[in-house]
Amino acid sequence: MKAAVCTKYGPPEVLELRDVKRPVPKDHEILVKVRASTVASGDIRVRSFNSPLLLWLPMRAFLGFTKPRKSILGVELAGEVAEMGKDVKKFKKGDHVFALTGMNFGGHAEYACISEKGAAAEKPVNMSFEEAAAAAFGGTSALFFLRKGKIQEGQRILIYGASGSVGTAAVQLARHFGTHITAVCSTSNFPLVKSLGAHELIDYKEEDFTETGERYDLIFDAVGKRSKKDCRKALASGGIFVTVNGQGIAKVRQEDLIFLKGLIETDRLISVIDKEYELDQITEAHRYVEKGHKKGNVVIKVRHGDSMDK
Ligand SMILES: NC(=O)c1ccc[n+]([C@@H]2O[C@H](COP(=O)([O-])OP(=O)(O)OC[C@H]3O[C@@H](n4cnc5c(N)ncnc54)[C@H](OP(=O)(O)O)[C@@H]3O)[C@@H](O)[C@H]2O)c1
Repeated sequence: MKAAVCTKYGPPEVLELRDVKRPVPKDHEILVKVRASTVASGDIRVRSFNSPLLLWLPMRAFLGFTKPRKSILGVELAGEVAEMGKDVKKFKKGDHVFALTGMNFGGHAEYACISEKGAAAEKPVNMSFEEAAAAAFGGTSALFFLRKGKIQEGQRILIYGASGSVGTAAVQLARHFGTHITAVCSTSNFPLVKSLGAHELIDYKEEDFTETGERYDLIFDAVGKRSKKDCRKALASGGIFVTVNGQGIAKVRQEDLIFLKGLIETDRLISVIDKEYELDQITEAHRYVEKGHKKGNVVIKVRHGDSMDK
């Protein structure tokens, strides 16, 4: 099968489209014929590997010393179940699914294996493969951190970095949970973020939200650029600060994807897609995402030649 392989740590040019062996599903796994994936911030982190010196050794031990152990990146995908291991019960051949592969990666290929007990669920019926692929990473991450922050109806919430993959999902989830949302992003992204449900908007380049005198019950830093210390004065009494950076990795369960599917199918959650690339444009896609200014998500479309469709 065709796959985008990360040949070593480095710039986007280390990615190569190669013919590799199609994975074989283990007893509890499904083999997904991938129709779409994304280039997520997590892919950029692994490929570029610019961990602080202190974390260099543990991170290399975890990810692989000379190159990523999981050489096919791609943390989320959508596609069709092509084969199943003998013990698979939840899915059947032909099912349309969306999934978060997470630290197993593997989405940037024609086929990927996922445990049926992992973060995989039936694709929302009202989404294309491209939209569904873009719904998993930002959606589940935002859900995890908003729940960690004990989000509740009626709260005043501030979402910092509301225009990225996690941010655009967070705004919509915060709207679903019935909160009053102040979103921080660039002025050029105001129309988008307002359309997702934000009530108030602040441009982070024009104004520091901690200096406005407003207080929030929950501050969610969805881009990991702020600290609890510098946000403390904007927290209401008993308020909570959560961030994607430094508070662990989002734990995702299958139920979370099913929860998101429910919101999507009742028109309460959409995927924001900035750009779409073909699998053989993976280098270009990484270059774009690496700039750090994508709006929502960047999709990789995976097309299958006839020979690969057998
Ligand atoms: N801990 C976890 O489990 C976990 C899970 C998911 C993600 N993350 C981390 O969360 C971060 C965000 O992920 P993502 O995929 O949502 O990123 P992303 O989509 O790449 O974020 C890009 C967006 O961030 C905005 N942005 C950049 N700098 C900003 C700033 N200083 N203030 C406000 N907005 C800013 C950009 O808007 P402008 O163009 O206007 O600057 C752009 O729209 C990444 O660092 C990722 O590694 C962690």
